Amino acid sequence: MRLIIDTDTAGDDTFSMLLAMKTPGVTLEAVTICNGNVDFDQQAENALATIEAAGKSGEVPVYLGARRPLLADWEPAQMHGADGMSGANLPRARQRPEEMHAVDALIERIMAAPGEIEMIAQAPLTNLALAVSREPRIAKALKHLWIMGGTDNSVGNVTPCAEFNFYIDPEAAEIVFRAGFNITLSTWTLTLGSSVFDAEQLAQIDGHETPLTEFYRKVSDTPRKVAEQRYGKVICTHPDTLTCACAIDPSIITASRNAVVRIETTGTITRGHSAIHPAKLGSRWPEYHENARIIESADNGAFFRMLERALTT
Ligand code: BDR
Ligand code: CA
Repeated sequence: MRLIIDTDTAGDDTFSMLLAMKTPGVTLEAVTICNGNVDFDQQAENALATIEAAGKSGEVPVYLGARRPLLADWEPAQMHGADGMSGANLPRARQRPEEMHAVDALIERIMAAPGEIEMIAQAPLTNLALAVSREPRIAKALKHLWIMGGTDNSVGNVTPCAEFNFYIDPEAAEIVFRAGFNITLSTWTLTLGSSVFDAEQLAQIDGHETPLTEFYRKVSDTPRKVAEQRYGKVICTHPDTLTCACAIDPSIITASRNAVVRIETTGTITRGHSAIHPAKLGSRWPEYHENARIIESADNGAFFRMLERALTT
């Protein structure tokens, strides 16, 4: 599998990268950085440090993309600490970012291998919206686009109506959903339903004491503490990591449905909301055509074993 990850590298973004780099049969061909979780340059350092931690220094190019959302003011996420890595204080990586802009790199790489590359979009969708606006043919040339974002008719994590990635750049998300990509959507609703590791699972990973389980333990420290305050128990959510796991092994998806997805860009209460409708609206409202598959549930145990294996081998 040939993969590109677009990321606002912090916490679960880094575990997604590790899963891709450490799973046999997956080639992580490039990482593109987008505005999102924390300071943009810090995110680039986090991505480079993650590549170094995986023993892949110099093998996975990192391209810098859009530093700002298209229209909205950027706001940091609250889940991952100021550095996005729970203050893990990782050594500065030897590898440095590429000169080419991420938007150019996406277009060049996708157009050079039509039908071969899959992409995980685990950040606000600014880079991808810019890329498909400049070169609309990437929508059909990309084999599959796995997006983490939105909610599936339940509450968000930034506002009751909106999840972080779509809330930060709703205009970009709406452009991407209307562009004709082959999309599978992994929502915040799925995150809470299928990506959570409980205290026992966390203890099992921590117990291995490999360099990567140590990385995981340190980098997930703030999300674990936030969850303890918010939910009264130590758990860890993995929105991006579960998205990556579903892309690598779609057999862990236990329920999904096709749908029409549009993103609210003008609502005051609902800005960034993912409006998800049944697939068959096109006969009455032609502009509402089926454009995504929504993952409704995934096998938590299988996901856990995939990540555990990636961190211990
Ligand atoms: C999304 O926001 C980020 O904080 C996570 O990395 C994930 O991509 C979840 O809402
Ligand atoms: Ca992310």
